[in-house]
Amino acid sequence: MHEKKRTSSYRSNKTMVQIIVALAMVVCLYQGRAYAVLDPPTGAIERSCGETNIGGKKILLAYATKHGATSSIAAKIADVLCQEGFHVDLKLAYKVKDISAYDAVIVGSPIYIGGWLRGARRFLHKNQDILADMNVAVFITCTYLKDENDVPERRAHAKELYIDPIFDELPDIKPMSYGIFSGEFLYRELYPVEFILMKLAKFPEGDFRNEEKIIAWALEISALLQ
Ligand SMILES: Cc1cc2nc3c(=O)[nH]c(=O)nc-3n(C[C@H](O)[C@H](O)[C@H](O)COP(=O)(O)O)c2cc1C
Repeated sequence: MHEKKRTSSYRSNKTMVQIIVALAMVVCLYQGRAYAVLDPPTGAIERSCGETNIGGKKILLAYATKHGATSSIAAKIADVLCQEGFHVDLKLAYKVKDISAYDAVIVGSPIYIGGWLRGARRFLHKNQDILADMNVAVFITCTYLKDENDVPERRAHAKELYIDPIFDELPDIKPMSYGIFSGEFLYRELYPVEFILMKLAKFPEGDFRNEEKIIAWALEISALLQ
């Protein structure tokens, strides 16, 4: 009898502990996302180029960033497109008011805890009707494809994980190309909650950006828009 009671109380304690651990994980993940959303971005770049490209198509490059890696990649794409004869406005996505004056839109976001930053996601949702009738290209920056991990199977998986869910919700937007770039991840730049989360996940740090791949994608977009 006593033995039975002890076993059932052990079971209920175990369940309780499991529930508490699960709740703690949910709170941590939520906070991680909240941090990624609430903290102001560092290293944002906003500028225009290609003003002297008379008759060149106008491209809006709207992006989000948290720690600046996506800004540097967006700026490189803009530079290449301006050299190719386009006029490019590089802007933080959450600040963009009107996209009607553009011939094409490129949207970029880093991946944080499996998802896009809110600025870029909101931009897509807010402008989905106009984007449905425009030339659209998208890119993400992440660490999933860093260095030797950049193989076709992982690329396909990264698209499934980080791009498809966004466009499953926005079926009318049909991007003509997807860029998936390795970004930069440095512990010294992280906010405290990010730091703890990433240390727990043993995320390897480094600058994994690859200029050749960024330029190649920008040239692909240029060819598609000519
Ligand atoms: C808190 C945090 C969560 C991250 N989550 C992911 C992830 O789920 N998948 C991934 O591939 N990279 C992840 N990364 C790496 C970032 O996507 C990468 O460092 C990106 O280049 C950062 O861009 P930013 O500097 O423009 O903010 C994460 C980085 C941080 C700091």
